[in-house]
Amino acid sequence: MRSFVHFLAVFLPALVAIMSPMAAAQLSPNYYANICPNLESIVRGAVQQSMAQSPISAPATLRLFFHDCAVQGCDASVMIINPNGDDEWRSTDDQTLKPEGFLTVVNAKAAVDSVPQCKNKVSCADILALATRDSVFLSGGPNYQVELGRLDGRVSTRASVNLPHGNFNLDQLNGFFSSLGLSQTDMVALSGGHTIGAASCSFFGYRTGGDPTMDSSFASSLRNTCAANPASGFAFLDGASPLRFDNAFYQNLRIGRGLLGSDQTLYSDPRSRGTVDLYAGNQGAFFNDFVNAITKLGRVGVKTAATGGEIRRDCRFQN
Ligand code: HEM
Repeated sequence: MRSFVHFLAVFLPALVAIMSPMAAAQLSPNYYANICPNLESIVRGAVQQSMAQSPISAPATLRLFFHDCAVQGCDASVMIINPNGDDEWRSTDDQTLKPEGFLTVVNAKAAVDSVPQCKNKVSCADILALATRDSVFLSGGPNYQVELGRLDGRVSTRASVNLPHGNFNLDQLNGFFSSLGLSQTDMVALSGGHTIGAASCSFFGYRTGGDPTMDSSFASSLRNTCAANPASGFAFLDGASPLRFDNAFYQNLRIGRGLLGSDQTLYSDPRSRGTVDLYAGNQGAFFNDFVNAITKLGRVGVKTAATGGEIRRDCRFQN
């Protein structure tokens, strides 16, 4: 009996550490307080510049963060360029990530590294997390504390990319998000990220020919948009205020003006309709739940030195 207790005392902590990498990662908003004290204002300034250069940069950065965290955790693996071409960003699902998101992070990293004390001390994964918060805030959304202390991953492969699709139903969406440890409420709140940015006709065109959950005049205007430009046509995910981070996305869903099937289904399906109604009528509730959910998303699969993490010198390449 005593030896069993001894066994537990010695091996249990190690076992727990192996089985729960999230618990081992110890993220904290003050992680860089002594390492790079002005980190937050440096990143915010750089994001401001990127947004002034391109209106696409904020939505592109927010989507990049989701695609990073949802595949192998928040470790900036989506930014890795592998010389043999086998990397996440060249997968079918990630090919549509816009260059402006990558550029926002690369520019913010250059700004951080221009300060001698900070040079090569801040991970690309953390810069992406901060740049995402700043993109949300500078678009009119909530300003929230970002937990920091992620390391950058060293592995990026096409085959690892598994992301939700615009034609998913509620069960498929819930299945995907629960694999990340996120609830249905988290999923509905995070889908509100579609309050900024755009989608190509290839992702919603199939819905414009008589989908009963789509408003008919909305469908006909989208048909015209896509017919005029079949190869490069696009529409805003929130047609009411496409560059403003607000709750109009949910108000659109209540009138059949959700662009993606996966968005409209949040209202069509009675199991999630109540949450859509709540957010449509109460922007504060949306912001609150969004912050909660994106903070949880930011903890997914975080790398430590023990799990092969590093601070990349160039966000595009392993050291
Ligand atoms: C719920 C499951 C989700 C599905 C099925 C989905 C699907 C899509 C699709 C198909 C597009 C259009 C891509 C294109 O045309 O190139 C898109 C864009 C976008 N997504 Fe999602 N998404 C989901 C969740 C999220 C989450 C959780 C976030 C962030 C919190 C997010 C942020 C964005 C943004 C900001 C854009 C616009 C990007 C741009 O304009 O460059 N999405 N999404």
